[in-house]
Amino acid sequence: MQTDLFATLTPQPERLDLAPGVVLWRQQLTTAAPALLAELPALLACSPFRHMQTPGGHTLSVAMSNCGSLGWITDRQGYRYSPVDPQTGRPWPAIPASWRAAASAAAQAAGFADFLPDACLINRYAPGARMGLHQDKDEANLDAPIVSFSFGLAARFLLGGLTRRDKVERIWLTHGDVLVWGGPARLRLHGIQAVTPGQHPLTGAYRINLTLRQAGRPQP
Ligand code: SIN
Ligand code: FE2
Repeated sequence: MQTDLFATLTPQPERLDLAPGVVLWRQQLTTAAPALLAELPALLACSPFRHMQTPGGHTLSVAMSNCGSLGWITDRQGYRYSPVDPQTGRPWPAIPASWRAAASAAAQAAGFADFLPDACLINRYAPGARMGLHQDKDEANLDAPIVSFSFGLAARFLLGGLTRRDKVERIWLTHGDVLVWGGPARLRLHGIQAVTPGQHPLTGAYRINLTLRQAGRPQP
């Protein structure tokens, strides 16, 4: 079922191996996008978008929410995963089954079997919003990849290396693109260049990015 979902959307999706452990499928989710995005309003009714604070006191330009048994948060106390939405005091809403299935299928297609996401960061970029180069390293399980879905306005993804001295590549991520990074690439620096104004029929003036992760400890 999971593999079917992924494979049937685009019969011969263009697979781009960007680097060892980094795979991009362009427009893989364009057909599924309306159904996948239709899940958003109910999730955001539980846990709305908000602009979080960095430990240094800056406010992130990207508006964020989460779903899953864990959600990524940042405040003056630091970056971490929390089972509770600090804004509502309640657990985050569950990851929609269609998102989990698409993410597991993408991971599998990229060579990472048994990917069972327990955390999904929902990023909303208005024009001008950006994400500086960072590593995803707050997850307990670094064996599992990061699976990223992009919708709406296009943006340039910055793909760095394992250190800040390494060269940074710029890759356009457009509506329906699926990007997976893991294995030797799991800790590569990455970010998003400032989004330029535009309109998209499904997301309006925004870029929406979902990153699905296995953030909790692997089950023994
Ligand atoms: C992230 O690193 O959490 C988001 C990347 C993206 O928006 O594509
Ligand atoms: Fe990230």
